[in-house]
Amino acid sequence: MVRVDVDPVVPSAEVIARAARLIRSGRLVAFPTETVYGLGANALDPSAVERIYIAKGRPAYNPLIVHVADVTAARNLIRVWPEEAEILANAFWPGPLTLVLPKRPMIPDAVTANLPSVAVRVPLHPVALALLSEVEIPIAAPSANRSMLLSPTTGSHVEKSLGESVDLILDAGPTPVGIESTVIDLSNGDPVLLRPGTISVPQIEALIGPVATARRISGPTPRASPGMLDRHYAPRARLMLADATDVPSIVGAQRRSSTTVGAIVIDAVLEGANVSRLPREQLGYASRLYGALHALDEAGCDVIVVERVPEGAEWLGVRDRLSRAAS
Ligand code: TXA
Ligand code: MG
Repeated sequence: MVRVDVDPVVPSAEVIARAARLIRSGRLVAFPTETVYGLGANALDPSAVERIYIAKGRPAYNPLIVHVADVTAARNLIRVWPEEAEILANAFWPGPLTLVLPKRPMIPDAVTANLPSVAVRVPLHPVALALLSEVEIPIAAPSANRSMLLSPTTGSHVEKSLGESVDLILDAGPTPVGIESTVIDLSNGDPVLLRPGTISVPQIEALIGPVATARRISGPTPRASPGMLDRHYAPRARLMLADATDVPSIVGAQRRSSTTVGAIVIDAVLEGANVSRLPREQLGYASRLYGALHALDEAGCDVIVVERVPEGAEWLGVRDRLSRAAS
C-alpha cells in the first residue's frame, strides 16, 4: 500500500496517471470524492470488482456505486434513461446524488449483486473527476472502509481501516460534504429514496414530484434496497442519542462509572475531554460528523453521547446516519 498526498484542487497529472494505470490493470485505488473516500476498481472487470468485496469484507448481496466523469458516460451504462434521470442529473451532477437505473449488460453482475439495476453518480471532487477523465473507464467504488463501519473522510481513515489491501491511496485531506450521497431509485417507475444525504427530499421533489421512502430492513434476507441495514455507518464505541438538556447528566453518570466517554454536541452545556462541538447547520455538521466519530474512537471512548440534531427535512441524512450508528 502506498499513500500519496494530492492537491485537492489541482491534482498532480503524474499521480493521476499512476492511479489510472493501476485501475486499468485491475488494482484497487482509494480516492477522495466530495462525500467520503471511495475504494475504486475497474467497474467492467469482474475480478477487479471481486477484490473490492474481499478488501471490505462486504457481503456479496450489497451492490456498488459506479462513478463516471459526466452525464454522457452515465447514460452509456443505462438501458432506460427516464425524464427524471435527465432532470436530476442536470440539476445535481457533478454532486452527491446517486441514481439507480436499469443497467446495460456490459455492467458485470458482481457490481450490481445480480440486480438488473445499477447505481451511478458523477462525483464533485477535482481528484475523482481527474481520475475518471484520465482512465476513461467507469469506476466501481463503495466507501473505503471495512463493511458496516464508519466511512472514511480522510486518507488516514482509509489507511487505518483497509491498510495493505489497497494498492494506492490518493490523500487529498478531508472531504467537504462528509456523509454519503443521497440515493434515489428510478428503476421501477416511481422515484424511491433509498438513502438520504445532503441533497434533500424537498430539493428533489421540487424538480420531479413526490419521492417515496424505502422501508428499512433487518436481517440477511434478499432485498430490493440492499444497503438499508439497521446497523451501519457505525463507530466502535457505543452511541447514545440524547436531548441537549439531558446530555450533561448522561455524560456525568458515564464519567463517574469510569467509562471513557465522548460527546458530540451542538448546544448542550458540557466541558471536559473528548467533547466535540459541531455547528447548528446541517452542511457544516455533516462535513465534520465522521471526523468527530473517528477521533473519539481513536481516543478510546467506550461510549459516545450524541446530542439529537434538529427535526427538519434537510437534517434527514444526518439523522439517518446517527440512528444507524446507534442501532
Ligand atoms: O457518497 C457515496 O455514495 C460514496 C462515494 C464513495 O461515492 N459511496 C458509497 O458507496 O457510499 P457504498 O457502497 O458505501 O453505498 C452504496 C449504496 C448502498 O446502500 C447500496 O446498497 C446502494 O448504494 N446500491 C448500490 N447499487 C444499488 C442498486 N442497484 N439498487 C439499490 N441500491 C443500490
Ligand atoms: Mg459504505
